[in-house]
Amino acid sequence: MIDQIKAARESALKRLAAAATSDDVRAVEIDVLGKKGTLTDLKTALGKLSTIEEKKQAGSALNEASATVADALAARLAELRRAERAVQLEIERVDLTEIMRRPKRGHAHVVTQAWQRLEDVFVGLGFQVAEGPEVETDWYNFEALNMPANHPARSMHDTFYVDHGSPGSTVLRTHTSPVQMRVMQTVAPPIYMIMPGRVFRNETTDATHLAVFHQIEGLVIDRGITLPDLAGTIEAFTKSFFGADFTSRLRPSYFPFTEPSAEFDIRTPSGEWLELGGSGMVHPNVLRAGGLDPEEWSGFAFGFGIDRMAKERHAINDLREMYSNDVRFLEQF
Ligand code: DAH
Repeated sequence: MIDQIKAARESALKRLAAAATSDDVRAVEIDVLGKKGTLTDLKTALGKLSTIEEKKQAGSALNEASATVADALAARLAELRRAERAVQLEIERVDLTEIMRRPKRGHAHVVTQAWQRLEDVFVGLGFQVAEGPEVETDWYNFEALNMPANHPARSMHDTFYVDHGSPGSTVLRTHTSPVQMRVMQTVAPPIYMIMPGRVFRNETTDATHLAVFHQIEGLVIDRGITLPDLAGTIEAFTKSFFGADFTSRLRPSYFPFTEPSAEFDIRTPSGEWLELGGSGMVHPNVLRAGGLDPEEWSGFAFGFGIDRMAKERHAINDLREMYSNDVRFLEQF
């Protein structure tokens, strides 16, 4: 009997050690300690032993075996549960850093940034913002700006014509100046406006010229506006956009829509002069075309390239690079 108990105990412990799952452990429990288990059967067989001494010895051996097997069962079960849980956790694991790894965010294009900064600075100086159409009539783009059909200044504007209406009557605007006219026709003076937008020139592109680029136009119409108001505005803009250590100057020039006309330059802290744009006092013919009486109203206008501005600001060598859509280039700004 004692040998049978020992054998049952050893076989149970061996099976437990080899058990790979908690189900295996439960099977051992049923086979050994269950209703028809080996140790249970032996307990029933106790009664058949002849002497009290034998019963006592076998009884205590049985108790010891049962307790040992029960302890081993519990220990093995806990061990396997831990392992099974670890496996489960590994399977169900969610990588939280994955959620944090958001797609890379883009930002405004270098020219858009310049456009927005220009608007901010002029709005800070009291200007409002207006926009006009990119497809214009000949009248708005040229005629109303004191450039009649055979005016020599028209050749400065290599024009893209649009196949619409009578031949030559519709153009892609060559500058933002036509928006001046649209503003004069719709807004009662005093006018303090800037007009940014896309413009088009039929020319070969190179490092400093693009066929599609951006300008910002300024128009001030009020009573008693004179050339010093223009110079003062350009200077205030220069300091506020570029910094207090920059200054500006006006240089005599010619534009059909202004009289007198001036180009304006800015001086960098290193003393270098950069040409920025054109300006002047709005020509009486232009005021009249806009429905304003030149005896009552006077004003100044200016216009310059936004892309060139971004180019200067960031020391970009070639304007075309800004439109190559190369993210490695654009990321820098
Ligand atoms: N429209 C001119 C151009 O595209 C720039 C310009 C010059 C605008 C003088 C103005 C101005 O408003 O007064 O070259």
